[in-house]
Amino acid sequence: MSETGQQAAVERLKTGVKGFDELIEGGIPRGFFISIVGEPGTGKTIFSIHFAWEGIKESDRVIYVTTEESKESIVQQASQFGMNFRKGLNEKKMIIIDALMKSKEEEWTLNDLNIEELVSKVIEAKKALGYGRTRLVIDSMSAFWIDKPAMARKMSYYIKRVLYKWDVTAYLISQYAVTTDLAYGFGLEHIADGIIRFKKILSRGVLKRYVLVEKMRQTNHDLTSHEVYIKPGIGMEIGPGTEKKREDFRINPEVAKKMVDAKNKGIREFLGEEESEWPEK
Ligand SMILES: Nc1ncnc2c1ncn2[C@@H]1O[C@H](COP(=O)(O)OP(=O)(O)O)[C@@H](O)[C@H]1O
Ligand SMILES: [Mg+2]
Repeated sequence: MSETGQQAAVERLKTGVKGFDELIEGGIPRGFFISIVGEPGTGKTIFSIHFAWEGIKESDRVIYVTTEESKESIVQQASQFGMNFRKGLNEKKMIIIDALMKSKEEEWTLNDLNIEELVSKVIEAKKALGYGRTRLVIDSMSAFWIDKPAMARKMSYYIKRVLYKWDVTAYLISQYAVTTDLAYGFGLEHIADGIIRFKKILSRGVLKRYVLVEKMRQTNHDLTSHEVYIKPGIGMEIGPGTEKKREDFRINPEVAKKMVDAKNKGIREFLGEEESEWPEK
């Protein structure tokens, strides 16, 4: 085999989100711990659902810990985009650990939101799923340190130290609210091999979502923010970089001239100068 450079040595996992892998040289390097941050409603969970589904399709083991929504809600959200999690669960390719509902009948749940219990449950799930490449989503980590933010960093180290031996590539989600940046995010960002940030803005009264790859070790990643679309029946897709997009929408010179002419005409009218040509109706 010929040596074609560094990329050849890095095994990458596809994210399952159309347009995203191109931003990171083809995917998430195997074994990486990725911190995913963003305010509510920016698309973190849907981004994670795609990662899980891609894992099922590629015959990876998939473990999804949900603290913010019930297992049913995750399965339902996925099904809206044509991803059959129910099948993945039945065929034992996937385990969803429901840390919200704490139902008595449910085998995979957490009695308490503490990090030791989380880690041991994830290992138990990994053993149940068996040997092989594993995708892990923890949605979200914030729930574990919400009442003890000072512990976030220590907990993050613990998770990585214990779980990296289990062949997991992980998405660790944190809620990011403008007012609570520090309390929610700082622990994970120290241990993260990659940081993917989702944002939302209100543009002329319309909500727009963006994503930016802030960090990805061993990767010549894209540095621009990209618009994120969430499409009914399809799921998440990534648009062009915002820089490129601005160029796409640069006004063409002819239109620009017309606008300037119209403006000048308006000024002349305002000043009472004669207008020889009346615009035709
Ligand atoms: N079927 C759907 N079609 C279109 N948009 C959807 C659909 N389901 C959810 N969404 C959009 O996705 C958003 C939720 O994204 P989510 O990934 O749960 O955000 P986060 O996890 O960052 O809080 C919703 O507020 C809605 O705008
Ligand atoms: Mg969410």
